[in-house]
Amino acid sequence: MLLTMKSKKAYAIIAFLLIFSLIFSACSNQGEQTKNGADDGKSAEETAANNPIPDATNAILQFNPPKLEDAPEGPLGDYIRWGYDMIQNTQETLPEYVGNKLSCASCHADGGLNISASPLVGSTTANPQYRPREGTVISMEDRINECFKRSMNGKPLDTNSEEMKAMISYLSYISTDMPVYGDIPWRGKSPMKIEGITPNIEEGEKVYTQSCLACHAADGSGNGPLTGPALWGENSFNGGAGLARLSMLAGYTQKNMPKGAMGGIAQGELTDQQAVDVAAYILSQARTLYEDYDKDFPSGGMPKDWFYHPDHEHPDNPASNK
Ligand code: HEC
Ligand code: HEC
Repeated sequence: MLLTMKSKKAYAIIAFLLIFSLIFSACSNQGEQTKNGADDGKSAEETAANNPIPDATNAILQFNPPKLEDAPEGPLGDYIRWGYDMIQNTQETLPEYVGNKLSCASCHADGGLNISASPLVGSTTANPQYRPREGTVISMEDRINECFKRSMNGKPLDTNSEEMKAMISYLSYISTDMPVYGDIPWRGKSPMKIEGITPNIEEGEKVYTQSCLACHAADGSGNGPLTGPALWGENSFNGGAGLARLSMLAGYTQKNMPKGAMGGIAQGELTDQQAVDVAAYILSQARTLYEDYDKDFPSGGMPKDWFYHPDHEHPDNPASNK
């Protein structure tokens, strides 16, 4: 049958009305079902208790990561335990990837479970993430390898290696129940505000001699990755590491050092000024250059306090004018 223009139009209108009424009735049916569901003999209280609405306003997240000894038996548990061992004892377990005398736990103390020492609880639910330093979205594997290349002054793991899988298994395990891309209150809390504090390297040296030297050695070379890791020189992190930032090193030190009381100062007792002074003293010493430093921050925005090298030309670098 041939349709005229007029009847085509009429069919189109009828079809439209039909579809519209179908959608409308579907919606109102759904509404009724919900109403019936809530009404099926249960009191409002019972309904709420049996099927609670997740509490969206609960902003307080407990720092209560699962313990290693509670990791499951079997292959996954084996990977989790192996991952922990590599993060704690990186020197011994992955010597070919480590270019200094540090372990991951030299900074991420207690296998990343120490709340004040750049904890790794929630790291797997925060990645992939966009980072201005890399100028792109980086994966969890990339994030781990950034610490290998910079903080460990070493080589990246093969992203698909068994070692990488084990590390991520462990980090995922300790991130159990963390919200994906959620606000995790202890993440990114290492840096302190350094605006308005003028670093004094000589005062920093005094603090160092008094409260740090016993564990980290007079020449900064340390006495072991888990007893007093290296703070400068070839045994330490290179200039591309996060701790090569004055705000980061000062903040980390103030929260965590000295480990126990030393020279009349206990952990957490350094003043802002003392923390900045001792960090400036440490960053004024020689350290390995991060070779790819000119590839960082491809779109600009390099923090002013990132001293890739003591000689790094920067007006704010307390050491560059020496
Ligand atoms: C010299 C110190 C140092 C060492 C050694 C180190 N890291 Fe880090 N790492 C840091 C700092 C500092 C941060 C940033 C923390 C912050 O912003 O508060 C970080 C961040 C991370 C993050 C991201 C955490 C998050 O929530 O986004 C991961 C994952 C990580 N490190 C893994 C490792 C692994 C694995 C190793 C060993 C191969 C390692 N790190 C060695 C200092 C270090
Ligand atoms: C009693 C020994 C001891 C004293 C004193 C001490 N540290 Fe540490 N430090 C450690 C240990 C052990 C670690 C490894 C991480 C951990 O276990 O908390 C560490 C880690 C560090 C790190 C991160 C790892 C690295 O190599 O970069 C920095 C930075 C640091 N200490 C700075 C200082 C400063 C600055 C002082 C003085 C204000 C100081 N420490 C005093 C024992 C000590």
